[in-house]
Amino acid sequence: MHRITRRDFTKTALAAGGLLATGSAAAVAEPAGVIRRRIPSSGEAIPIMGLGTNRYGVGDSPDARAPLRDALARFHELGGTVIDTAPSYRTSESVLGDLIRDLDIRQDLFIATKVDRDSGRDDSLAQTRNSVRKLQVDTIDLMQVHSLNDWKNNIPLLRELKQDGRFRYIGLTTSRSSQYAEMEKAMLKHDLDFIQIDYSLAQREAAERLLPLAAERGMAVMLNRTFGGGRIFQAVGDRPLPAWTAELQITSWAQFLLKYALSHPAATVAIPGMTKTRHVDDNFGAARGPMPDAGQRERMEDFFDAL
Ligand SMILES: NC(=O)c1ccc[n+]([C@@H]2O[C@H](COP(=O)([O-])OP(=O)(O)OC[C@H]3O[C@@H](n4cnc5c(N)ncnc54)[C@H](OP(=O)(O)O)[C@@H]3O)[C@@H](O)[C@H]2O)c1
Repeated sequence: MHRITRRDFTKTALAAGGLLATGSAAAVAEPAGVIRRRIPSSGEAIPIMGLGTNRYGVGDSPDARAPLRDALARFHELGGTVIDTAPSYRTSESVLGDLIRDLDIRQDLFIATKVDRDSGRDDSLAQTRNSVRKLQVDTIDLMQVHSLNDWKNNIPLLRELKQDGRFRYIGLTTSRSSQYAEMEKAMLKHDLDFIQIDYSLAQREAAERLLPLAAERGMAVMLNRTFGGGRIFQAVGDRPLPAWTAELQITSWAQFLLKYALSHPAATVAIPGMTKTRHVDDNFGAARGPMPDAGQRERMEDFFDAL
């Protein structure tokens, strides 16, 4: 039996209110004010604030898991759905699987993980099966090829498994500009639902070719490393925010960085790494209210470059 999930419910409610007009690329607002954007290949709308979990591989210790459980619960409470993980993030998939089961929130989530094997079809297939088992799900929402690993073989395999209903969407990730030329080749050759790429005020190279290409090819864009792994906070230090950021309802540097990244016209969702509840609260402030326009984005760049 098909269970009515919050996702279905929201979709129905928004459609009834005329907010999910077919073919419109416009952002739609959640009741809680969290902005949602559409996945071009399906029209499904997802909240623009996701969760990166490369620091969730803490193993079995209840003490180590407790703050992650709180952060995940808060993420869900604030309307977050998109969670990105990977088999290479140590025990992250298993920890998430257990926490999601304990919180009983699977039905509300959009779970993304990855394949990174380069030893042939059987090995990649086994890895995807392990992810399904560890995450304790029937279907994975988005399966991505991690950092282009054996993409020429792995993308066709993921497409086949998507056709079998094992995954709802497929994609390809990178977080290094040295891979962009190869990424471009893959994006031109294959119809992907998503790409995932590093993009931040400190690393804007993706905006030169790959973000426009994703928009042109109808691919959703998941942004990683929006804080440069956390290092950008050292660059801003304890400087106060410029007064003009108030018009964008920005109250922290994290929101400044996220609103910059998320206001790129090709952006669909950002996945900042968050292991603390207070960071989840802070970052959701960037998923509401006005987004910078082209002029404000330039001002943000000038300000950052002058630091
Ligand atoms: N090739 C790939 O596919 C690839 C590569 C890299 C990353 N990723 C994905 O992208 C995600 C994000 O990347 P990342 O975690 O390396 O880098 P990031 O999101 O740029 O930075 C995460 C760091 O920022 C801190 N932080 C989060 N919110 C904050 C806030 N409001 N104020 C101050 N500090 C804050 C986090 O602290 P706390 O942890 O203490 O909350 C963590 O130390 C990963 O988790 C992963 O899912 C994918």
